[in-house]
Amino acid sequence: MSAPFGRRRLTIGGARRVGAYVVLAAPDPGGPAPEPGQFYMLAAAERWGGGEDERPFLPRAFSVLRATGTDPPTLEFMLEDVGPGTRRLGELVPGDGLWVTGPLGQGFTAPGEGRRALLCGGGVGTAPLAIWQDALLASGREAPALLGFRDGEHAEGAGLLRDARVATDDGSTGHHGPVTDLLVAELDAGTPAIVYACGPPGMLEAVRALCEARAVPAQLALESGMACGFGACFGCVVPTRDGSYVRLCVDGPVLDAELLAGVPAH
Ligand SMILES: Cc1cc2nc3c(=O)[nH]c(=O)nc-3n(C[C@H](O)[C@H](O)[C@H](O)COP(=O)(O)OP(=O)(O)OC[C@H]3O[C@@H](n4cnc5c(N)ncnc54)[C@H](O)[C@@H]3O)c2cc1C
Ligand code: FES
Repeated sequence: MSAPFGRRRLTIGGARRVGAYVVLAAPDPGGPAPEPGQFYMLAAAERWGGGEDERPFLPRAFSVLRATGTDPPTLEFMLEDVGPGTRRLGELVPGDGLWVTGPLGQGFTAPGEGRRALLCGGGVGTAPLAIWQDALLASGREAPALLGFRDGEHAEGAGLLRDARVATDDGSTGHHGPVTDLLVAELDAGTPAIVYACGPPGMLEAVRALCEARAVPAQLALESGMACGFGACFGCVVPTRDGSYVRLCVDGPVLDAELLAGVPAH
């Protein structure tokens, strides 16, 4: 489902901390329900910029973490403070205004016959996997999740999915090492799988290469700098294996791994 024309002003209904992350919730009476893997461009309605005499920030892209209820659906977003935009969004409290444009882009597609879904994420790449796990479980499929984080505080984000197995860089929670260690064990267990992954570029490239080496299909939710979010600026292009480019905001953010010779670093 694509976004209605223009941006909509929502009102924050909830804001909670989950370890190192903030989860915002906002009822969206004007928008269609998102599909798993789609994203929204978000901007705070007030104080969205460097100051009185400075230009406002561009909206920032966020995967939808979850959409709950129907009348209206409440959108949830998971964010980490990495700069001025995410910091400002992380300050929002119930009653504050939130501009949204979305849902945007192409999301995940269901596993083919006889393949089991394996979800693999890192950091804020957890977000699109939560709504995708909800959809897979609701359709009667299994959806085991493997999630990697830098430390125990970040690993609390794993609680946003059901029964996720965790790896941390510092070994404070779960497996000590990259989440791809857990993925290799699952892939080599022998059951035909399809991997759905989202996370930082290095992790996604490792997932892509592991799957390619084993002829396992994968769908990767990529990130890139996005200025518009709807195909107009070409700021989000990613090179493909055949020498052309795709715009991540309209052709992605979820791409079939076989389209890519590699996952570009930011
Ligand atoms: C489709 C999509 C979905 C996303 N989903 C989420 C999400 O669910 N939760 C979340 O916290 N973040 C998500 N992001 C990343 C988020 O958009 C950026 O972290 C945010 O724009 C940073 O804004 P800022 O002003 O806080 O920091 P900035 O000052 O703009 O950036 C801080 C640092 O992050 C880097 N950066 C900025 N934008 C991006 C980007 N798009 N991708 C990678 N690095 C970037 C910058 O180079 C810089 O090093 C997503 C991005 C995309 C494209
Ligand atoms: S963000 Fe503008 S074309 Fe993709």
